Amino acid sequence: MRARRRLLCVLCCAVTTIVLIPALAAAQTVADSASPAAIGGGREIFHGAGSCQVCHGPNLEGGPMAPTLKTHPWKDAKGGGYDAILNVVMKGVPGTAMVSHPGGISDEDARRVAAYVWAVGHGKATP
Ligand code: HEC
Repeated sequence: MRARRRLLCVLCCAVTTIVLIPALAAAQTVADSASPAAIGGGREIFHGAGSCQVCHGPNLEGGPMAPTLKTHPWKDAKGGGYDAILNVVMKGVPGTAMVSHPGGISDEDARRVAAYVWAVGHGKATP
């Protein structure tokens, strides 16, 4: 009986560790990635080195070349989450003008610009 209870306890701990720690870590990652510093840096990249505004418009309103990046039914960045947006910036959309790392930006800058697009799309920052 006692052994079984101990086993149950160990199992419980294991489940808690396996489920909770990655969840906390994920929450942490989004919070860190979308820090005000990252968003501010991303704003500069969007309007500068990343050349995003040329196609997506200075206020993310979209244009003849590319869709809006404000809240909309996301086609490539499904759901409009930070990771989905980052994935598009990192990999591009094959066969379209949306190339990977537009403007030749670094991975670090891609993360910043994704934070900026995510924040504007979620009303947490202005364009
Ligand atoms: C040369 C034009 C061009 C530039 C520069 C460009 N994009 Fe795009 N982008 C596009 C096009 C076109 C699409 C839509 C692709 C398709 O047809 O599905 C797109 C799609 C996207 C999407 C997905 C939209 C959705 O609805 O899912 C995101 C996010 C995005 N771009 C972010 C960026 C960011 C951030 C930058 C700058 C680092 C950037 N783009 C630079 C043309 C561009």
